Amino acid sequence: MKKIVILISGRGSNMEAVVRACATEGWPAQVVAVIANRPEATGLAFAAAHGIATAVVDHRQFDQREAFDAALAEAIDRFAPDLVVLAGFMRVLTAGFVGHYAGRMLNIHPSLLPSFAGLKTHQQALDAGVRLHGASVHFVTAQLDHGPIVIQAALPVLASDDVTTLAARVLAAEHIIYPRAVRWFVEGRLALDGLTVVLTPPEPQWLFADYTAGEGV
Ligand code: GRF
Repeated sequence: MKKIVILISGRGSNMEAVVRACATEGWPAQVVAVIANRPEATGLAFAAAHGIATAVVDHRQFDQREAFDAALAEAIDRFAPDLVVLAGFMRVLTAGFVGHYAGRMLNIHPSLLPSFAGLKTHQQALDAGVRLHGASVHFVTAQLDHGPIVIQAALPVLASDDVTTLAARVLAAEHIIYPRAVRWFVEGRLALDGLTVVLTPPEPQWLFADYTAGEGV
């Protein structure tokens, strides 16, 4: 049984998707804790209601990034996880922290990386005029929003899209690809060949998200 710790900062809908898939699909894994860097993170209530241990390490109580990351690592390691899942965890992590979880920490980013790292990815996509946008699940490395890509979901940017509509469709795709990636990890199917993630046995590491052809074009 693999142990998963999920880090959140807010709503936690990706965390919910992972928790639900783990339970309903009978993964060889258990979500043992959900940890937030904000006490007001609403996702904590969902986790507690599902019998999952919760903890808060409030970044505002630390002057130094290193001190926060050390406290966070201590809170995580109490649960001895095999995998750390960043699910809308809005903190830049130190290289030391990232190194400690090398090869066992995943993140989801709402863009087709390496395009649009950082914040406001949907606005960035609209501003750039790209016709395809999406989300990426990747192993976390010291470089923000980079690292070997496990799976990506792509969807069209419609002429009618604004940040809200685009974000909603990307989020729906996130809820499909993140549980899939985590499942592959806990099933021991992911390996790294340099920067390339190798999935064994292979299956598509991409998803073209469904939409109604012609809608809003
Ligand atoms: C998601 O879009 C995620 O990709 C991004 O922040 C959002 C978090 O949403 N990093 P939630 O907390 O999982 O609902």
